[in-house]
Amino acid sequence: MNIKVGPPVSEDNFYPRPELIARLLGALEHAHVAFLGPRRTGKTSCLRKIVATPPTGYVPILLNLEQYDSVEAWLLAMLEHVHAELKKPGPKAPWLVEKGISFLGRIEELTIMGHGIKLAATKEKTAPWRPLADKLVRLLKDTNAPILFLLDEFPVFLNLVSKKHTREEVEALLNWFRSARQDLVDHAPRFLVTGSIGLKGVVRRLGLSPTINDFDTLEIPPLSEAEALKFLEVLAKDNGVSLPVSGRRHILKLLGGAWPILLQLFISEIKEAHFKKAPVKADLDRIYRECLVAGARNEYCTGMFTRLKEAFSESECRLAQAILKQLCRTEHGLSREEFEAVHAALVPVPEQRALHGDELDYVLDTLKHDGYVHQDFDGEQRTRFASHILRDFWTRKTS
Ligand SMILES: Nc1ncnc2c1ncn2[C@@H]1O[C@H](COP(=O)(O)OP(=O)(O)O)[C@@H](O)[C@H]1O
Ligand SMILES: [Mg+2]
Repeated sequence: MNIKVGPPVSEDNFYPRPELIARLLGALEHAHVAFLGPRRTGKTSCLRKIVATPPTGYVPILLNLEQYDSVEAWLLAMLEHVHAELKKPGPKAPWLVEKGISFLGRIEELTIMGHGIKLAATKEKTAPWRPLADKLVRLLKDTNAPILFLLDEFPVFLNLVSKKHTREEVEALLNWFRSARQDLVDHAPRFLVTGSIGLKGVVRRLGLSPTINDFDTLEIPPLSEAEALKFLEVLAKDNGVSLPVSGRRHILKLLGGAWPILLQLFISEIKEAHFKKAPVKADLDRIYRECLVAGARNEYCTGMFTRLKEAFSESECRLAQAILKQLCRTEHGLSREEFEAVHAALVPVPEQRALHGDELDYVLDTLKHDGYVHQDFDGEQRTRFASHILRDFWTRKTS
């Protein structure tokens, strides 16, 4: 296993996450899935793993939606990938043997139709992509093709579409996509979308939250302690880094949250420090402070920092920043009343606060789902930073 910090990993560099993959595939049996989590937490790597070892009978199609700048381009890409996938040599699934020629023929027809789409100069009632989109659903339904569309970074695509088109047009797209999912939910085809920039925030800003309600949402978790210890052991060993179990445990204690990228970064910094002997606690403390918290390569924390701007509207973002700034300076977290006080300090006029009634709840909820903060179950149910590294990163950024 090679050290990889940043881009998605695959094959031997992917540390297996069988439970997570099984949960994703289990959810897909009954629903379409939104697989959410901040950037650099390992979502694309999991999708690649699904593509490499798909569930029996399924044909996975992985598309990075950041590459498409129009609905037409997205629909066409889905069609062209299905076509290419099914024409690949090799033993065919029984489904394709039965439906093969007619299915491929219809895909080809649709692709040609898609390439012919011209943006209408006049305002038409239906979007120019709509006939193609409807035919695609019809085809998937008729053939019951077990295709698993893995659509990476769906909210980035939505943001882009919403910059180029009116809100009504984005609404038409989201409504079409939802009804397509609903039409297909009792059939074999499945959609999985991922989102790093807050899918819920993006549709909320558009006032279109109900259009994604049907997704079964799964948030990517960090590694469990046992997984993280094993991952550190394997990664260190494979890369010639000497790190006894006490060191591995100390790393997890320092980070307080075992995201694979942070473990990768830690091992990579130890390797680059060229220690003569295995690093002792003081060495690890220094690497944590200087390279992880303050280092430029920590894409996870910088991503979390900039993500607030993407996930929230302006006023929500201000509130989130004020909350986190206060939170990283408290030892025991904050209570509900203290959060309300932060909100009141930021927006002193009660009527103005009431205008965005659920803003505080929404911001706290999003920060929780993002793995930013964690609320105690018992006692005063105080909320604190979910990991030490984020807290220390945030303290440094805001001091
Ligand atoms: N299962 C894994 N095994 C090893 N490294 C991983 C794994 N998942 C994530 N990573 C680390 O996280 C980084 C980002 O992964 P990626 O899949 O691109 O995340 P995302 O798609 O959520 O942005 C990788 O470069 C790697 O360092
Ligand atoms: Mg990704």
